[in-house]
Amino acid sequence: MCGIVGYYGDEEASEKVFRGLKKLEYRGYDSAGIATAGNPTIKTEKAVGEVEEVRNPDIDGTSGIGHTRWATHGGVTQENAHPHVSEQEKVAVVHNGIIENYQELKQQIDAEFKSETDTEVIPHLLEEKLRQNTIKDAVNKVMKKLEGSYAVAAMLDTGELIAFRKGSPLVLGIDNGEYHLASDVTPFLKHTSKAVFLEDGDYAVIDGDHTVYNSGKQVSREIQEIDWDAEQASKEGHNHFMEKEIKEQPKTVKRAAYQDKSDLEKAVDMIESAEDVYLTGCGTASFAASLGAKYIRESGHEAHSEQSHELEYRSDEITEEDIVIAVSQSGETADLLSLLDETQADVLAVVNVVGSTLARQADHKLYVNAGPEIGVASTKAFTAQLTVLKLIAYSLENRTEEGREKLLDTAEKISETIDANRQEIEELSTYLVEKDHVYFIGRDKGYEMAREANLKLKELSYIHAEAFPGGEFKHGTLALVEEGTPVVAFLREDYSQAYNNMMEAHSRGADIVSVGDTKIEESNFHIDMPEDENPEILEIVPFQMAAYLTAVKKGHNPDKPRNLAKSVTVK
Ligand code: M6R
Repeated sequence: MCGIVGYYGDEEASEKVFRGLKKLEYRGYDSAGIATAGNPTIKTEKAVGEVEEVRNPDIDGTSGIGHTRWATHGGVTQENAHPHVSEQEKVAVVHNGIIENYQELKQQIDAEFKSETDTEVIPHLLEEKLRQNTIKDAVNKVMKKLEGSYAVAAMLDTGELIAFRKGSPLVLGIDNGEYHLASDVTPFLKHTSKAVFLEDGDYAVIDGDHTVYNSGKQVSREIQEIDWDAEQASKEGHNHFMEKEIKEQPKTVKRAAYQDKSDLEKAVDMIESAEDVYLTGCGTASFAASLGAKYIRESGHEAHSEQSHELEYRSDEITEEDIVIAVSQSGETADLLSLLDETQADVLAVVNVVGSTLARQADHKLYVNAGPEIGVASTKAFTAQLTVLKLIAYSLENRTEEGREKLLDTAEKISETIDANRQEIEELSTYLVEKDHVYFIGRDKGYEMAREANLKLKELSYIHAEAFPGGEFKHGTLALVEEGTPVVAFLREDYSQAYNNMMEAHSRGADIVSVGDTKIEESNFHIDMPEDENPEILEIVPFQMAAYLTAVKKGHNPDKPRNLAKSVTVK
């Protein structure tokens, strides 16, 4: 939610910052802006819309910061676009997060505010504190005043960069005398694989060297080697990241299945020795968590699942004898991190982004190894999460190697499943373009499939869609079915009951899209599934593709659905 970038080095900063912002655009695309420092002035270029709007800004300087915004406080206007600059134009700031006490701080600051944002208090405060303090002390004082969550890159008119964070992510890339700041590693992977992940409360001063402080004291932070390569974060000839990411799944599912033996054993130990097991996440990751709970129950251990923002209301029920399995692609989702802050239990993270807040804070982690997922809609991260959760369940049954083989078999069938259904998916997407409402139903694990397929379709195509347990549909929603209403039925689990639920809709005029290994006479479309031990990994893929194609046919950008952002770092 908002992407921030900074550059300090010898080259033209605006170009570096622009390139970096392009990589972070998935974090928000309401407005964009760049500032550079060339003594004696800070120069800014800002625009409403995507990062492309600030390509080739006519601003020079070898230090720069930039921002791509997902609006929270203040409308989508040029004035509210970051960077925000202080009264005397000595400090420019970009920010990701929310300053909760900004109204109160505004009353204390003697400056003319030019935007409606919470962010603008930061450059004013910094400028005020820098009048009488060293950079180090000024930042420490400002951080003490700020409440809420923030990752901030500030730039002085003399070119120094300052980075500080609490709650929101911020990484420093170190590249032979050049420095890159960013919300995640993707903007600087092309230049360097060396990164310092700032911890909560850290602040760093970058002035040709980098020094990290926390609460007024210098601290040392390890320089980590990131083994994602830059190519993984590019489209590699595909029209959209989403298309590329869907097609990567045969590879990413395999990668997810190869977990380090001792890491997996530790995860299994944590589950076996816990009193209660809670799986949680948000959005797509919550459906993976819900399926994960079912896999773990099938392996003979009790497990519960709930979306993080709801589970937080009863976080006091989770004791230190329990374990929370936190599922997240980004590892930065505020609703999830906030729940974890509230619980006493040990946390096992099932996470994709290396070095993310969740990965660093968890007691133990299993990386799903899907590589950078840039499309806002989660695809390969979901199937990688299912793979890791299923592997855990196999391990709980002492069948790790056999289970891994089965998962590798499943991975082999992904391309086959797309190929076998290619024409049907194409025709289904053309059909869906004309529809205003779609319903998804499924029973047991088919219900999670219905929920995830439904989320994919609505977030990309903006078609109203809802998902229900098959048994629930007739308890009210069936009233909305009329001639030609599309109902997608996942038929694998509890086949005859699921079939009955589908027929209840069909006999009221619904157009049926059936998913399973038996062709249904009444179906208008049938997505055919091969026999497999891990059908959830396969079943979702045709719907990722159908949602993608429907969005493209409607003229939407599937990589950047409206109003959304890739990592949701606000509650
Ligand atoms: O990064 P996370 O996995 O924690 O993100 C959770 C959700 O915000 C995310 O899955 C969201 O629902 C996706 N846009 C769905 O495609």
